[in-house]
Amino acid sequence: MSVEKVLVVDDEVLMRNFVVEALKRKGIEAVAVESGEKALELLQAHSFDLVITDMKMPGLSGMDVLQRTKEISPRTLVIVVTGFGTIENAVEAMKNGAFYYLIKPFSLESLMANIEKANQHTALVEENTYLRQQVEAKSYGHVLVAESPAMQKIVQDVQQAAKSHASVFITGETGTGKEVIAHLVHYSSPRVDQPFIKVNCAAVPDTLVESEFFGHEKGAFTGAANKRLGRFELANGGSLLLDEVTEIPLALQAKLLRVTQEQEFERVGGSKPIKVDVRLISTSNRDMAEAIASKVLREDLYYRLNVVPIYLPPLRERQEDIIPLAHYFLERTCQENHLDKKTLSADAQKKLLHYRWPGNVRELANVMERAIVMDRGKVIDGEHLHLNGPGVNPMAGRTLQELEKQLIVETLQMHENRTKAAETLGISVKALRDKLQEYNLP
Ligand SMILES: Nc1ncnc2c1ncn2[C@@H]1O[C@H](COP(=O)(O)OP(=O)(O)OP(=O)(O)O)[C@@H](O)[C@H]1O
Ligand SMILES: [Mg+2]
Repeated sequence: MSVEKVLVVDDEVLMRNFVVEALKRKGIEAVAVESGEKALELLQAHSFDLVITDMKMPGLSGMDVLQRTKEISPRTLVIVVTGFGTIENAVEAMKNGAFYYLIKPFSLESLMANIEKANQHTALVEENTYLRQQVEAKSYGHVLVAESPAMQKIVQDVQQAAKSHASVFITGETGTGKEVIAHLVHYSSPRVDQPFIKVNCAAVPDTLVESEFFGHEKGAFTGAANKRLGRFELANGGSLLLDEVTEIPLALQAKLLRVTQEQEFERVGGSKPIKVDVRLISTSNRDMAEAIASKVLREDLYYRLNVVPIYLPPLRERQEDIIPLAHYFLERTCQENHLDKKTLSADAQKKLLHYRWPGNVRELANVMERAIVMDRGKVIDGEHLHLNGPGVNPMAGRTLQELEKQLIVETLQMHENRTKAAETLGISVKALRDKLQEYNLP
Protein backbone atom coordinates (compact mmCIF):
# COMPACT_ATOMS: atom_id res chain seq x y z
CA MET A 1 0.00 0.00 0.00
CA SER A 2 1.18 3.47 -0.78
CA VAL A 3 -0.47 6.86 -1.09
CA GLU A 4 -3.49 6.28 -3.34
CA LYS A 5 -6.06 8.84 -2.26
CA VAL A 6 -5.35 12.42 -1.28
CA LEU A 7 -7.53 15.21 0.08
CA VAL A 8 -6.41 18.72 -0.86
CA VAL A 9 -7.69 21.59 1.30
CA ASP A 10 -7.06 25.16 0.21
CA ASP A 11 -9.19 28.26 -0.18
CA GLU A 12 -7.24 29.33 -3.27
CA VAL A 13 -8.50 27.69 -6.39
CA LEU A 14 -5.19 28.00 -8.27
CA MET A 15 -3.34 26.20 -5.53
CA ARG A 16 -5.95 23.44 -5.39
CA ASN A 17 -5.74 22.94 -9.12
CA PHE A 18 -1.96 22.91 -9.16
CA VAL A 19 -1.78 20.19 -6.52
CA VAL A 20 -4.64 18.11 -7.88
CA GLU A 21 -3.23 18.17 -11.41
CA ALA A 22 0.20 17.17 -10.18
CA LEU A 23 -1.23 14.25 -8.23
CA LYS A 24 -3.44 13.06 -11.05
CA ARG A 25 -0.50 13.02 -13.41
CA LYS A 26 1.13 10.59 -10.98
CA GLY A 27 -1.95 8.40 -11.06
CA ILE A 28 -3.02 9.40 -7.55
CA GLU A 29 -6.70 10.01 -6.85
CA ALA A 30 -7.17 13.53 -5.53
CA VAL A 31 -10.20 15.33 -4.13
CA ALA A 32 -10.06 19.07 -3.48
CA VAL A 33 -12.17 21.20 -1.14
CA GLU A 34 -12.05 24.90 -0.32
CA SER A 35 -12.50 24.79 3.45
CA GLY A 36 -11.59 22.90 6.59
CA GLU A 37 -15.26 22.29 7.32
CA LYS A 38 -15.78 20.51 3.99
CA ALA A 39 -12.58 18.56 4.53
CA LEU A 40 -13.78 17.18 7.85
CA GLU A 41 -17.10 16.13 6.33
CA LEU A 42 -15.25 14.13 3.68
CA LEU A 43 -12.84 12.66 6.21
CA GLN A 44 -15.76 11.33 8.24
CA ALA A 45 -17.20 9.57 5.24
CA HIS A 46 -14.17 8.41 3.26
CA SER A 47 -10.69 7.20 3.91
CA PHE A 48 -7.71 9.18 2.68
CA ASP A 49 -4.04 8.22 2.84
CA LEU A 50 -2.89 11.81 2.85
CA VAL A 51 -4.30 15.28 3.50
CA ILE A 52 -2.52 18.33 2.09
CA THR A 53 -3.93 21.37 3.82
CA ASP A 54 -3.28 25.08 3.66
CA MET A 55 -2.66 26.61 7.07
CA LYS A 56 -4.38 29.94 6.68
CA MET A 57 -7.99 29.70 5.61
CA PRO A 58 -11.17 31.46 6.60
CA GLY A 59 -13.05 29.29 9.11
CA LEU A 60 -11.20 26.24 10.33
CA SER A 61 -7.43 26.62 10.02
CA GLY A 62 -4.98 24.04 8.73
CA MET A 63 -4.00 23.36 12.32
CA ASP A 64 -7.64 22.51 13.13
CA VAL A 65 -7.79 20.23 10.11
CA LEU A 66 -4.60 18.55 11.26
CA GLN A 67 -5.87 17.96 14.77
CA ARG A 68 -9.27 16.68 13.68
CA THR A 69 -7.72 14.43 11.02
CA LYS A 70 -5.52 12.83 13.64
CA GLU A 71 -8.64 12.12 15.72
CA ILE A 72 -10.83 10.88 12.90
CA SER A 73 -8.19 8.85 11.08
CA PRO A 74 -4.87 8.49 12.89
CA ARG A 75 -3.15 6.65 10.06
CA THR A 76 -3.82 9.45 7.55
CA LEU A 77 -0.72 11.56 6.95
CA VAL A 78 -1.05 15.33 6.91
CA ILE A 79 1.19 17.75 5.02
CA VAL A 80 0.61 21.40 5.89
CA VAL A 81 1.18 24.24 3.46
CA THR A 82 2.33 27.50 4.94
CA GLY A 83 3.44 30.90 3.73
CA PHE A 84 7.07 31.88 3.69
CA GLY A 85 8.22 33.46 6.93
CA THR A 86 5.81 31.43 9.04
CA ILE A 87 8.10 28.48 9.56
CA GLU A 88 7.10 28.51 13.24
CA ASN A 89 3.62 27.41 12.19
CA ALA A 90 5.09 24.54 10.27
CA VAL A 91 7.21 23.52 13.21
CA GLU A 92 4.19 23.71 15.50
CA ALA A 93 2.24 21.57 13.05
CA MET A 94 5.02 18.98 12.97
CA LYS A 95 4.85 18.85 16.74
CA ASN A 96 1.14 18.22 16.47
CA GLY A 97 1.66 15.27 14.24
CA ALA A 98 1.96 16.70 10.73
CA PHE A 99 4.00 14.44 8.50
CA TYR A 100 5.72 17.33 6.78
CA TYR A 101 5.28 20.89 5.56
CA LEU A 102 5.55 22.78 2.31
CA ILE A 103 6.40 26.44 2.12
CA LYS A 104 4.53 28.55 -0.42
CA PRO A 105 5.27 28.99 -3.22
CA PHE A 106 6.52 25.47 -3.70
CA SER A 107 7.68 23.75 -6.83
CA LEU A 108 6.19 20.69 -8.43
CA GLU A 109 9.45 19.00 -7.57
CA SER A 110 9.23 19.60 -3.83
CA LEU A 111 5.55 18.61 -3.83
CA MET A 112 6.44 15.34 -5.51
CA ALA A 113 9.39 14.77 -3.19
CA ASN A 114 6.96 15.06 -0.27
CA ILE A 115 4.47 12.70 -1.87
CA GLU A 116 7.28 10.24 -2.47
CA LYS A 117 8.30 10.51 1.17
CA ALA A 118 4.71 9.91 2.25
CA ASN A 119 4.61 6.98 -0.13
CA GLN A 120 7.66 5.40 1.34
CA HIS A 121 6.46 6.08 4.83
CA THR A 122 3.09 4.46 4.21
CA ALA A 123 4.62 1.49 2.49
CA LEU A 124 7.10 1.00 5.30
CA VAL A 125 4.56 1.35 8.05
CA GLU A 126 2.01 -0.92 6.50
CA GLU A 127 4.13 -3.66 5.04
CA ASN A 128 7.25 -3.61 7.01
CA THR A 129 6.70 -2.62 10.60
CA TYR A 130 8.03 -5.90 11.82
CA LEU A 131 11.08 -5.99 9.59
CA ARG A 132 11.95 -2.39 10.29
CA GLN A 133 11.84 -2.90 14.02
CA GLN A 134 14.27 -5.74 13.60
CA VAL A 135 16.66 -3.68 11.51
CA GLU A 136 16.49 -0.73 13.87
CA ALA A 137 17.19 -2.87 16.86
CA LYS A 138 20.15 -4.44 15.19
CA SER A 139 21.60 -1.41 13.51
CA TYR A 140 23.86 -0.36 16.28
CA GLY A 141 21.17 0.85 18.57
CA HIS A 142 20.74 3.81 16.28
CA VAL A 143 17.82 5.20 14.46
CA LEU A 144 18.77 6.90 11.25
CA VAL A 145 17.09 10.25 10.88
CA ALA A 146 16.79 11.11 7.20
CA GLU A 147 14.13 13.71 6.45
CA SER A 148 15.89 15.87 3.87
CA PRO A 149 15.59 14.99 0.19
CA ALA A 150 19.38 14.59 0.12
CA MET A 151 19.39 12.02 2.92
CA GLN A 152 16.35 10.24 1.50
CA LYS A 153 18.21 9.83 -1.74
CA ILE A 154 21.28 8.55 0.08
CA VAL A 155 19.27 6.00 2.03
CA GLN A 156 17.71 4.81 -1.22
CA ASP A 157 21.07 4.58 -2.95
CA VAL A 158 22.58 2.75 -0.01
CA GLN A 159 19.76 0.25 0.17
CA GLN A 160 20.07 -0.35 -3.54
CA ALA A 161 23.86 -0.74 -3.42
CA ALA A 162 23.66 -2.90 -0.32
CA LYS A 163 22.05 -5.71 -2.29
CA SER A 164 25.21 -6.17 -4.35
CA HIS A 165 28.74 -7.05 -3.37
CA ALA A 166 30.10 -3.67 -4.54
CA SER A 167 32.53 -1.74 -2.34
CA VAL A 168 31.06 1.42 -0.88
CA PHE A 169 33.10 4.55 -0.19
CA ILE A 170 31.50 7.09 2.12
CA THR A 171 32.87 10.64 2.25
CA GLY A 172 31.74 13.74 4.10
CA GLU A 173 32.83 16.21 6.74
CA THR A 174 33.45 15.05 10.27
CA GLY A 175 30.30 14.09 12.16
CA THR A 176 28.02 13.86 9.12
CA GLY A 177 27.10 10.24 9.90
CA LYS A 178 29.51 8.21 7.78
CA GLU A 179 29.67 5.42 10.30
CA VAL A 180 25.90 5.35 10.66
CA ILE A 181 25.58 4.96 6.90
CA ALA A 182 28.26 2.26 6.88
CA HIS A 183 26.11 0.32 9.32
CA LEU A 184 23.10 0.85 7.11
CA VAL A 185 25.02 -0.68 4.19
CA HIS A 186 25.70 -3.81 6.16
CA TYR A 187 22.31 -4.13 7.79
CA SER A 188 20.50 -3.60 4.48
CA SER A 189 22.61 -6.22 2.73
CA PRO A 190 22.09 -9.96 2.38
CA ARG A 191 25.05 -10.25 4.79
CA VAL A 192 23.01 -8.93 7.67
CA ASP A 193 23.40 -12.12 9.71
CA GLN A 194 27.14 -12.29 9.12
CA PRO A 195 29.79 -10.33 11.03
CA PHE A 196 30.22 -6.59 10.70
CA ILE A 197 33.82 -5.76 11.60
CA LYS A 198 35.35 -2.33 11.89
CA VAL A 199 38.96 -1.15 11.74
CA ASN A 200 39.78 2.38 12.71
CA CYS A 201 42.74 2.79 10.39
CA ALA A 202 43.92 5.95 12.17
CA ALA A 203 44.13 4.23 15.53
CA VAL A 204 46.28 1.19 14.66
CA PRO A 205 50.05 1.72 15.03
CA ASP A 206 51.95 1.23 11.76
CA THR A 207 53.90 -1.71 13.09
CA LEU A 208 50.78 -3.67 13.95
CA VAL A 209 48.59 -2.73 11.10
CA GLU A 210 49.42 -5.67 8.86
CA SER A 211 48.69 -8.16 11.62
CA GLU A 212 45.55 -6.25 12.48
CA PHE A 213 44.26 -6.68 8.95
CA PHE A 214 45.55 -10.11 8.06
CA GLY A 215 46.36 -11.80 11.36
CA HIS A 216 49.57 -13.66 12.13
CA GLU A 217 50.90 -17.14 12.72
CA LYS A 218 52.31 -18.18 16.03
CA GLY A 219 55.88 -16.86 16.39
CA ALA A 220 55.61 -14.61 13.34
CA PHE A 221 57.35 -11.81 15.25
CA THR A 222 58.42 -11.03 18.79
CA GLY A 223 55.33 -10.99 20.91
CA ALA A 224 53.30 -13.18 18.56
CA ALA A 225 52.87 -15.94 21.11
CA ASN A 226 49.75 -17.31 19.49
CA LYS A 227 48.09 -17.43 16.14
CA ARG A 228 45.76 -14.53 15.67
CA LEU A 229 43.01 -13.94 13.14
CA GLY A 230 42.98 -10.59 11.38
CA ARG A 231 39.96 -8.43 10.65
CA PHE A 232 39.58 -9.82 7.15
CA GLU A 233 39.17 -13.33 8.44
CA LEU A 234 36.85 -12.20 11.20
CA ALA A 235 34.71 -10.42 8.66
CA ASN A 236 34.51 -13.43 6.34
CA GLY A 237 31.05 -13.69 4.83
CA GLY A 238 30.16 -10.27 6.19
CA SER A 239 31.35 -6.67 5.85
CA LEU A 240 34.55 -4.89 6.85
CA LEU A 241 34.50 -1.18 7.60
CA LEU A 242 37.78 0.60 6.86
CA ASP A 243 37.23 3.75 8.87
CA GLU A 244 39.47 6.66 7.81
CA VAL A 245 40.97 4.57 5.06
CA THR A 246 43.52 7.20 3.98
CA GLU A 247 45.43 6.52 7.19
CA ILE A 248 46.51 3.04 6.08
CA PRO A 249 50.29 3.05 5.51
CA LEU A 250 51.24 2.98 1.82
CA ALA A 251 53.10 -0.32 2.13
CA LEU A 252 49.98 -2.03 3.33
CA GLN A 253 47.84 -0.41 0.66
CA ALA A 254 49.56 -2.59 -1.96
CA LYS A 255 48.59 -5.72 -0.04
CA LEU A 256 45.10 -4.45 0.43
CA LEU A 257 44.84 -3.89 -3.31
CA ARG A 258 45.64 -7.55 -3.86
CA VAL A 259 42.92 -8.64 -1.44
CA THR A 260 40.37 -6.49 -3.23
CA GLN A 261 41.36 -8.10 -6.52
CA GLU A 262 41.77 -11.72 -5.48
CA GLN A 263 39.92 -11.94 -2.17
CA GLU A 264 42.99 -13.76 -0.91
CA PHE A 265 45.93 -13.08 1.45
CA GLU A 266 48.39 -14.71 3.84
CA ARG A 267 48.67 -14.21 7.57
CA VAL A 268 51.86 -12.47 8.74
CA GLY A 269 54.50 -15.20 9.01
CA GLY A 270 52.29 -17.63 7.09
CA SER A 271 52.48 -18.96 3.55
CA LYS A 272 49.08 -20.57 3.09
CA PRO A 273 46.77 -18.35 1.03
CA ILE A 274 43.50 -17.68 2.83
CA LYS A 275 40.38 -17.04 0.81
CA VAL A 276 37.77 -14.67 2.14
CA ASP A 277 34.50 -13.20 0.98
CA VAL A 278 34.29 -9.70 2.43
CA ARG A 279 32.28 -6.65 1.46
CA LEU A 280 34.37 -3.53 1.93
CA ILE A 281 33.01 -0.24 3.19
CA SER A 282 35.45 2.68 3.49
CA THR A 283 35.07 6.13 4.97
CA SER A 284 37.08 9.32 4.84
CA ASN A 285 36.56 12.96 5.71
CA ARG A 286 39.41 14.07 3.48
CA ASP A 287 39.26 15.56 0.03
CA MET A 288 39.91 12.41 -2.00
CA ALA A 289 41.27 14.15 -5.09
CA GLU A 290 43.82 15.82 -2.86
CA ALA A 291 44.63 12.61 -0.95
CA ILE A 292 45.36 10.84 -4.24
CA ALA A 293 47.33 13.73 -5.73
CA SER A 294 49.53 13.91 -2.63
CA LYS A 295 49.95 10.11 -2.71
CA VAL A 296 48.38 9.49 0.67
CA LEU A 297 46.06 6.95 -0.93
CA ARG A 298 46.96 4.76 -3.91
CA GLU A 299 44.81 5.65 -6.85
CA ASP A 300 44.34 2.02 -7.95
CA LEU A 301 43.19 1.07 -4.47
CA TYR A 302 40.82 4.01 -4.41
CA TYR A 303 39.13 2.81 -7.59
CA ARG A 304 38.67 -0.65 -6.13
CA LEU A 305 37.17 0.75 -2.95
CA ASN A 306 35.09 3.45 -4.59
CA VAL A 307 32.73 1.38 -6.73
CA VAL A 308 29.72 3.00 -5.08
CA PRO A 309 30.54 6.52 -3.86
CA ILE A 310 28.29 8.01 -1.20
CA TYR A 311 28.77 11.66 -0.25
CA LEU A 312 27.14 12.92 2.93
CA PRO A 313 26.46 16.66 2.69
CA PRO A 314 27.20 18.79 5.74
CA LEU A 315 24.25 19.28 8.09
CA ARG A 316 23.94 22.98 7.18
CA GLU A 317 23.06 21.91 3.64
CA ARG A 318 20.22 19.67 4.76
CA GLN A 319 18.10 21.96 6.88
CA GLU A 320 15.14 19.57 6.91
CA ASP A 321 17.14 17.14 9.04
CA ILE A 322 18.04 19.59 11.80
CA ILE A 323 14.80 19.72 13.79
CA PRO A 324 13.98 16.01 13.44
CA LEU A 325 17.53 15.18 14.56
CA ALA A 326 17.23 17.58 17.49
CA HIS A 327 13.98 15.91 18.53
CA TYR A 328 15.55 12.51 18.20
CA PHE A 329 18.52 13.44 20.39
CA LEU A 330 16.16 15.16 22.81
CA GLU A 331 14.12 12.03 23.25
CA ARG A 332 17.14 9.75 23.43
CA THR A 333 19.00 11.87 25.99
CA CYS A 334 15.94 12.39 28.18
CA GLN A 335 15.37 8.66 28.18
CA GLU A 336 18.97 7.86 28.97
CA ASN A 337 18.97 10.33 31.85
CA HIS A 338 15.54 9.31 33.13
CA LEU A 339 14.21 12.81 32.61
CA ASP A 340 10.69 13.75 31.64
CA LYS A 341 10.42 14.55 27.99
CA LYS A 342 11.39 18.14 27.24
CA THR A 343 10.32 20.27 24.33
CA LEU A 344 12.07 22.81 22.13
CA SER A 345 10.81 26.38 22.02
CA ALA A 346 10.20 28.01 18.65
CA ASP A 347 13.17 30.28 19.28
CA ALA A 348 15.43 27.31 20.00
CA GLN A 349 14.34 25.71 16.75
CA LYS A 350 15.09 28.88 14.86
CA LYS A 351 18.56 29.05 16.39
CA LEU A 352 19.23 25.44 15.50
CA LEU A 353 18.17 26.10 11.92
CA HIS A 354 20.41 29.15 11.61
CA TYR A 355 23.56 27.74 13.12
CA ARG A 356 26.38 26.62 10.83
CA TRP A 357 27.14 23.22 12.45
CA PRO A 358 30.86 22.86 11.66
CA GLY A 359 30.83 19.61 13.68
CA ASN A 360 27.65 18.46 11.91
CA VAL A 361 25.36 15.85 13.48
CA ARG A 362 27.82 14.99 16.23
CA GLU A 363 27.90 18.63 17.30
CA LEU A 364 24.10 18.80 17.25
CA ALA A 365 23.94 15.70 19.46
CA ASN A 366 26.38 17.32 21.90
CA VAL A 367 24.54 20.64 21.93
CA MET A 368 21.25 18.93 22.67
CA GLU A 369 22.76 16.76 25.35
CA ARG A 370 24.37 19.73 27.06
CA ALA A 371 21.17 21.76 26.94
CA ILE A 372 19.15 18.89 28.38
CA VAL A 373 21.51 17.97 31.15
CA MET A 374 22.38 21.52 32.18
CA ASP A 375 18.86 22.83 32.32
CA ARG A 376 16.13 21.83 34.70
CA GLY A 377 13.21 23.36 32.83
CA LYS A 378 10.72 21.50 30.69
CA VAL A 379 11.22 23.70 27.66
CA ILE A 380 14.58 24.19 26.02
CA ASP A 381 14.91 27.79 24.99
CA GLY A 382 17.20 29.43 22.47
CA GLU A 383 19.64 30.68 25.09
CA HIS A 384 20.05 27.21 26.63
CA LEU A 385 21.67 26.01 23.44
CA HIS A 386 24.69 28.31 23.76
CA LEU A 387 25.02 28.61 20.04
CA ASN A 388 26.57 32.04 19.97
CA GLY A 389 30.03 31.04 18.87
CA PRO A 390 31.83 32.74 16.01
CA GLY A 391 30.60 32.35 12.46
CA VAL A 392 26.94 32.19 13.37
CA ASN A 393 25.89 34.44 10.55
CA PRO A 394 22.75 32.63 9.43
CA MET A 395 23.74 33.04 5.80
CA ALA A 396 27.22 31.62 6.14
CA GLY A 397 27.49 28.02 5.11
CA ARG A 398 24.76 28.27 2.51
CA THR A 399 25.49 28.38 -1.17
CA LEU A 400 25.00 31.52 -3.25
CA GLN A 401 22.40 29.62 -5.22
CA GLU A 402 20.39 28.76 -2.11
CA LEU A 403 20.49 32.37 -0.98
CA GLU A 404 19.54 33.64 -4.40
CA LYS A 405 16.59 31.27 -4.54
CA GLN A 406 15.46 32.28 -1.07
CA LEU A 407 15.79 35.98 -1.90
CA ILE A 408 13.72 35.56 -5.04
CA VAL A 409 11.00 33.65 -3.20
CA GLU A 410 10.83 36.25 -0.44
CA THR A 411 10.83 39.20 -2.82
CA LEU A 412 8.00 37.66 -4.81
CA GLN A 413 6.06 37.34 -1.56
CA MET A 414 6.52 41.05 -0.92
CA HIS A 415 5.20 42.23 -4.27
CA GLU A 416 2.08 41.62 -6.16
CA ASN A 417 3.64 41.35 -9.54
CA ARG A 418 6.83 40.21 -11.14
CA THR A 419 7.69 43.59 -12.61
CA LYS A 420 7.96 45.11 -9.14
CA ALA A 421 9.78 42.09 -7.79
CA ALA A 422 12.29 42.23 -10.64
CA GLU A 423 12.77 45.94 -10.02
CA THR A 424 13.46 45.34 -6.32
CA LEU A 425 15.91 42.61 -7.18
CA GLY A 426 17.61 44.88 -9.68
CA ILE A 427 17.17 42.53 -12.62
CA SER A 428 15.00 42.48 -15.72
CA VAL A 429 11.67 40.67 -15.81
CA LYS A 430 13.16 38.26 -18.29
CA ALA A 431 16.10 37.54 -16.01
CA LEU A 432 13.63 36.89 -13.19
CA ARG A 433 11.63 34.54 -15.39
CA ASP A 434 14.81 32.64 -16.28
CA LYS A 435 15.70 32.36 -12.61
CA LEU A 436 12.24 31.06 -11.73
CA GLN A 437 12.63 28.41 -14.35
CA GLU A 438 16.15 27.56 -13.24
CA TYR A 439 14.97 27.07 -9.66
CA ASN A 440 11.79 25.29 -10.65
CA LEU A 441 9.61 27.90 -8.97
CA PRO A 442 5.99 28.42 -10.04
N1 LIG B 1 21.23 10.63 10.27
C1 LIG B 1 21.50 10.39 11.57
N2 LIG B 1 20.52 9.99 12.41
C2 LIG B 1 20.80 9.76 13.70
N3 LIG B 1 22.00 9.92 14.27
C3 LIG B 1 23.01 10.32 13.49
C4 LIG B 1 22.82 10.57 12.11
N4 LIG B 1 24.00 10.96 11.57
C5 LIG B 1 24.88 10.96 12.57
N5 LIG B 1 24.32 10.57 13.73
C6 LIG B 1 25.00 10.48 15.04
O1 LIG B 1 25.98 11.51 15.06
C7 LIG B 1 27.21 11.04 15.57
C8 LIG B 1 28.31 11.16 14.53
O2 LIG B 1 28.07 10.26 13.46
P1 LIG B 1 29.22 9.35 12.82
O3 LIG B 1 30.15 8.82 13.86
O4 LIG B 1 28.60 8.36 11.92
O5 LIG B 1 29.96 10.48 11.97
P2 LIG B 1 31.23 10.37 11.02
O6 LIG B 1 30.85 11.01 9.73
O7 LIG B 1 31.70 8.97 10.98
O8 LIG B 1 32.27 11.31 11.77
P3 LIG B 1 33.90 11.29 11.72
O9 LIG B 1 34.31 11.77 10.36
O10 LIG B 1 34.28 12.27 12.76
O11 LIG B 1 34.32 9.89 12.00
C9 LIG B 1 26.96 9.63 16.01
O12 LIG B 1 26.62 9.63 17.38
C10 LIG B 1 25.78 9.19 15.18
O13 LIG B 1 25.03 8.22 15.82
MG1 LIG C 1 33.47 8.10 11.64
